[in-house]
Amino acid sequence: MLRRIGSEQLQVGMFVARLGGPWISHPFWRAKFLVSHEDQIRQIQSAGVREVWIDILKGRNLPPAGVPEAPPAPVAEPAPQPEPQPHEPAGSQPVASLEAELGRARELLQSGKAVVGSMFADIRMGRALEVERALPLVDAASRSLSRHGQALLALARLKARDDYNYLHAFAVCALMIAVGRTLGLPDDEVRELGLAGLVHDIGKLTLPGSVQHKATARTPEEEESYRRHPSAGYRILNEARLVSNIPLDVCVHHHERVDGRGYPFGLVGRELSIHARIAAICDAYDSLTSARPGHQQWSPARAMEYMAVRVDTLFDRRVFKAFTGTVGIYPLGTVLRLRSNRLAVVCGQNDADPLRPLVMVFFSVSQSKPLPTELVDLRHSEETVVAFENAADWGYTDEQLMAMYTNTNAS
Ligand SMILES: [Fe+2]
Repeated sequence: MLRRIGSEQLQVGMFVARLGGPWISHPFWRAKFLVSHEDQIRQIQSAGVREVWIDILKGRNLPPAGVPEAPPAPVAEPAPQPEPQPHEPAGSQPVASLEAELGRARELLQSGKAVVGSMFADIRMGRALEVERALPLVDAASRSLSRHGQALLALARLKARDDYNYLHAFAVCALMIAVGRTLGLPDDEVRELGLAGLVHDIGKLTLPGSVQHKATARTPEEEESYRRHPSAGYRILNEARLVSNIPLDVCVHHHERVDGRGYPFGLVGRELSIHARIAAICDAYDSLTSARPGHQQWSPARAMEYMAVRVDTLFDRRVFKAFTGTVGIYPLGTVLRLRSNRLAVVCGQNDADPLRPLVMVFFSVSQSKPLPTELVDLRHSEETVVAFENAADWGYTDEQLMAMYTNTNAS
């Protein structure tokens, strides 16, 4: 049951169901939350919010007039959300060959580019976002992942700097769908996650090009401006007709970190929705593995290693586990050095033993020369992985690697 009160009447223990007025221009919090400390009240009041709707069935009510106020009761933690039951990682039983699905995924990325490009152009011109145009892309990505869980993810990771904004949006969309499925989230929620991935960085379109595309370190002023993109994105999405709050939540919270060192609000793990925690991981992984202004592309393995040691500080443990279960500890296209001092590219996962993937051996480090390609299943081999390598250091492009791992008949 909702009750409208003035923001000056807000108290610790009340459950905020809606904020009124200037909330639209001060999106500093998720839509519904329990007020657990005074700082939240100060934030709301200092943002100029005058009215608040509280749910008196979920939190404290105002004391009746004339009745002396009881001391505030200790605030209970929000009721824990039921943990979704994990599913098999997306794509564990592909129904299409990798090669066939890569062909379809390539076409999807190409056709989607025009749609997303025109959506982004509309936003730059100050027009409202038309979400209906994005949903067919989300559904097409979802179908691709159902046919083969790795093809679209592998392809979307390979992006030219010029296409970074669009392909990053699409890659995060695909990753979020795949991780949402692995976590066992309902289909309608997974669809909203996909949409959220597509639009999570939409606020960057409001940044000056000099800040957005800067190849060197940002000045403190530029960094401050950059860090406003989640809130700017929120304002754009708030004007759109959205079915759920998931895209809004993801947009404004995808740079929050579980230890509270993220931005814009420094929320901690328990204050972040599962959707925001999924977005943080998918966004970080795709950013690290992409060539973009000011950042050299990392191999998937290096990004995984970097993120793995930051679980519980930057990233949520349960979601990260689902993430590695989805893309593999050694994602498709990862280059590994084997004990025999040969290089191999990962071309298939072994779900039963993710540390021993299917690889294509292609280069001898000791002889410094290419080898005839040889498919090796590390589960049934004396070979072991000794290091991650960067393909470019050995003169190989992503396209050359892809040609190797798509010609393996490995699904
Ligand atoms: Fe972002």
